Amino acid sequence: MKFKTIIEPFKIKSIEPIRSTTPEERAQYLRESHYNVFLLRAEDVLIDLLTDSGTSAMSSHQWAGIMDGDEAYAGSKSFFRFQRVVQELTGMKHVIPTHQGRAAEKILFTITGGSGKLVPNNTHFDTTRANVEYSGAQAIDFPTAEGRQPDVIADFKGNIDLAQLERFIEERGKENIPLCMITVTNNSGGGQPVSMRNIRSAKELLSKYGIPLFLDACRFAENAFFIKKREQGYHDKTVREIAREMFSYADGCTMSAKKDGLVNMGGFLALNDDHLASQARNILIVTEGFPTYGGLSGRDLEAIAQGLEEVLDENYLTYRIRSVEYLGEKLVAAGVPIVRPPGGHAVYLDARAFAPHIPPHEYPGQTIVCELYRQGGIRAVEIGSVMFGKYDSTGNLVSPAMELVRLAIPRRVYTQSHIDYVSEVVQAVFEGRKRLKGYKIIEEAPILRHFTAKFEPII
Ligand code: F0G
Repeated sequence: MKFKTIIEPFKIKSIEPIRSTTPEERAQYLRESHYNVFLLRAEDVLIDLLTDSGTSAMSSHQWAGIMDGDEAYAGSKSFFRFQRVVQELTGMKHVIPTHQGRAAEKILFTITGGSGKLVPNNTHFDTTRANVEYSGAQAIDFPTAEGRQPDVIADFKGNIDLAQLERFIEERGKENIPLCMITVTNNSGGGQPVSMRNIRSAKELLSKYGIPLFLDACRFAENAFFIKKREQGYHDKTVREIAREMFSYADGCTMSAKKDGLVNMGGFLALNDDHLASQARNILIVTEGFPTYGGLSGRDLEAIAQGLEEVLDENYLTYRIRSVEYLGEKLVAAGVPIVRPPGGHAVYLDARAFAPHIPPHEYPGQTIVCELYRQGGIRAVEIGSVMFGKYDSTGNLVSPAMELVRLAIPRRVYTQSHIDYVSEVVQAVFEGRKRLKGYKIIEEAPILRHFTAKFEPII
């Protein structure tokens, strides 16, 4: 290409104003929300990087699909379009619409989970882990060693550790493992991609033991794009072909369409096994809805079908991955410690290295999250001891391997100057890092505590 600037491959037709507030106002809002940014009002946030989930801007074609949605209770034309698009993408026989990803997880693990069962994954996302555990089963993560080291630069840090997985199956017994999951990209492990080779080898290994492979496919297109850019033999393939190959190794998948479906709500469970599908549909009818709409309206099904086509546009993916990388590069240049290389949907600050004077039990990630909001009105999310911390039998906090702060970039929402502003704020917080102080939790729920926990600064 002649010019080096990668531009947003769209123009803006409709805008949504964002509101500036003062640092004093934000300090007050933080106090009122007990230093938990999930409890802030979104209108008090300037740049919202809490999540890339359900925050995408839809295209004019998707909005047209919204008008075109068929709201028939049964047999809606929108369902058949949705089903066709998902079947063409995944190659899977059964497509079960759900209102979001975790509803698909709930159905899957209600059937396959239960006491004594073990579910391996490269890294479970928090809702996936919660759904596995809620069923009575145990969720176990097998990230690779390099996936646990923020400053090690490697192409596929999202991979599942196959040697550990095999040892685990041998030790714990294949009959106790109803399925194995691979999360693409590996969200909790830094938004890092999984290689095709790793998915293929995982499938081969699992086949030996008769264990099905499921993809947690939320960010399948971003993962496929990384494969195209980084894995030998894929450069000349289209992202669609790569995505199809990824799915071809799986027996099923759970999908939150709120990410690479480019919509604000929706998801599905897709699988090949007839018996499992029929059990899933029975639960779907009780908890979500009739099989041709699940938890969704016809209009949502249209928007997802359209989004799943648009997300495979390579101009879009080039811009998407570059905009995240651009933020990562700026932060690295300023010396800010991040998980390297940057992930597909987010830049993850390495809170341990950012604020080494704050121990994990004083939640360094939470401190940085609060400070990004106070100084710049930016909302990020802690992915560390708050989200994944557990207590041992003596009540001591057991921390996860990494203390991260995720700056998730919504799809097609922010422009380059927004990203420049984010970089400036992160750098300002980093410059004042020695003055940062930790937090303590004063109230928490027994499960998924990060959503509602209340904090107090340690003075
Ligand atoms: N799996 C992964 C890898 C996810 O990132 C998410 C959601 C889910 C499953 C659940 O999907 O929200 O539609 O029920 N991740 C969001 C996030 C919430 O902020 O990363 P859901």
